[in-house]
Amino acid sequence: MTYTETDLHNFLQTRRSVRRFKPDPIPDSVIETILSTAAYAPSAHNRQPWRFVVITSPAAKTGLADAMALDFERDLAHDGIPSEKIQSQIKRSKERINAAPAAILLCLDMSDMDSYPDGRRQHAERMMAVQSVAAAGLQLLLAAHAEGLGGVWVCSPLFAQETIQTTLNLSPLWEPQGLFFVGYPAEIPKVRERKHLESVFIKR
Ligand SMILES: Cc1cc2nc3c(=O)[nH]c(=O)nc-3n(C[C@H](O)[C@H](O)[C@H](O)COP(=O)(O)O)c2cc1C
Repeated sequence: MTYTETDLHNFLQTRRSVRRFKPDPIPDSVIETILSTAAYAPSAHNRQPWRFVVITSPAAKTGLADAMALDFERDLAHDGIPSEKIQSQIKRSKERINAAPAAILLCLDMSDMDSYPDGRRQHAERMMAVQSVAAAGLQLLLAAHAEGLGGVWVCSPLFAQETIQTTLNLSPLWEPQGLFFVGYPAEIPKVRERKHLESVFIKR
């Protein structure tokens, strides 16, 4: 099959963040294909600082959801949110993890990146590693889209990094960056409006 430029742009523009899934499991081979495509993302010095944890068993999902909920609850209480609202947000957060056929945790591992003696360059190196991991995150979503799957990137792991490392028994070198819920879509969400190109682009 030959794809035209229009087909390929259309493919990129039709990816949506999907938040409701059919319960059907995703075959392991499909998950492996998605991760292998995600790993074709560009990375600074080609160091590939991304790491993935695939979470599909109900026990692992519940364990993660419960542990993350405790951190979330503590943060919301600290913000002075009324307890009723906290409980409904916690419930929703747990349901989202448990209802996803697969949750894929994306981590950053700085081990193979360069080290600098000064904070300025070390910060830049860390930024380029985070940017590389984010590139893999986008590629993961696009690979899922190519497989007819839907997915959404959630940022909550950034607020519960140590809790997640402990719960999933991860190496402390694997720093959780994002969680991807993936499954066969139970909805095709509407396009979320984009800023006009003229407002985000200049020419020099
Ligand atoms: C870094 C990052 C963090 C995100 N965090 C969340 C999140 O915590 N919860 C959520 O529902 N969606 C999250 N999203 C999805 C965005 O809301 C979504 O990409 C945006 O609204 C545009 O919609 P679209 O992906 O359907 O085009 C995140 C996306 C990115 C790139």
